Amino acid sequence: MDYRAFVEEQVGTLRDSVGDGIAINALSGGVDSSVVTVLGHRALGDRLKTVFVDSALMREGEPDSVKKVFAGMGIPVDVVDARAEFLGALKGLTDPEEKRNAVTSTFYSTVFGRLVREKGAKFLLHGTILTDIEETVAGIKRQHNILGQIGIDPEEAYGYRVIEPLMTLRKDGVRKVAAILGMPREVTDRIPFPGPALATRIVGEVTEERLATVRAATTIVEDELGNSGAFQYLAALLGDRATGIRDGKREFGQIIVVRCVDSEDARKATPVNISWDILNRISKRVTDIPGVNRCLYDLTPKPPGTIEYV
Ligand code: XMP
Repeated sequence: MDYRAFVEEQVGTLRDSVGDGIAINALSGGVDSSVVTVLGHRALGDRLKTVFVDSALMREGEPDSVKKVFAGMGIPVDVVDARAEFLGALKGLTDPEEKRNAVTSTFYSTVFGRLVREKGAKFLLHGTILTDIEETVAGIKRQHNILGQIGIDPEEAYGYRVIEPLMTLRKDGVRKVAAILGMPREVTDRIPFPGPALATRIVGEVTEERLATVRAATTIVEDELGNSGAFQYLAALLGDRATGIRDGKREFGQIIVVRCVDSEDARKATPVNISWDILNRISKRVTDIPGVNRCLYDLTPKPPGTIEYV
């Protein structure tokens, strides 16, 4: 495939489809939504409104770092503070599906619905790729057109159309397009990070305090395993507690699990054989997080485990 021709073709199609209207897209900082952002800006300039939704569920410093990387490419990103809306929607929920649904509907229905109206957008650019469509058809993933999934026809509900410029590409193709677009490696080489973000890594209720704990552990794990070459690595906070000792006193503390897997396409995964030294260092740093007194390494392949915990 000629990826340069692909870029030209998509830029042309976007211009034709949007005409002199306004389009909006949500940037997460992942490679798919990042490529859509750059393609969309090439085609539409400032008629594409790119937003980063701060859901309170992102990693340390993520809203600022995403904004900065795109500012470096001359693309303004509007960071929208929706933390209270997401935390409110997640309050009291412990069931995994209910938590996922709360994140999805807060994003697409509450927050995005409002933004689209505010910006006067008639088009939504979405980073759906071919694999998403195939997995949806095969029943592996939930329907990727999430608005459709939660019973909203975007055209009817908000008066905008969804445009999916990457729907003929797989991940390797998206990375090639990213390289042609001159995107920095910190964007193109990022490990996968799920849409519902840190909510998929907290077993039980998602609260501000528990998010701070898993966020701190995530920073440590990404720091220590950044050079591992693994497909994905993460920290998850369990719902259980364990007895420990801190400063000579008993502590009923929290438990962090470290997961690091190799995989081709996330359908199957195997745990990585990490050196004892690195594991020890991670354990030491993770148990320095206030309230955490256990650090476990997950040896479970997928299946039967999934990569995420929720
Ligand atoms: P699981 O946990 O199902 O995850 O083994 C497989 C891969 O998909 C990512 N993942 C998601 N990505 N939205 C996403 O965009 C989601 O809801 C979601 N859930 C899981 C996960 O990080 C892994 O790479």
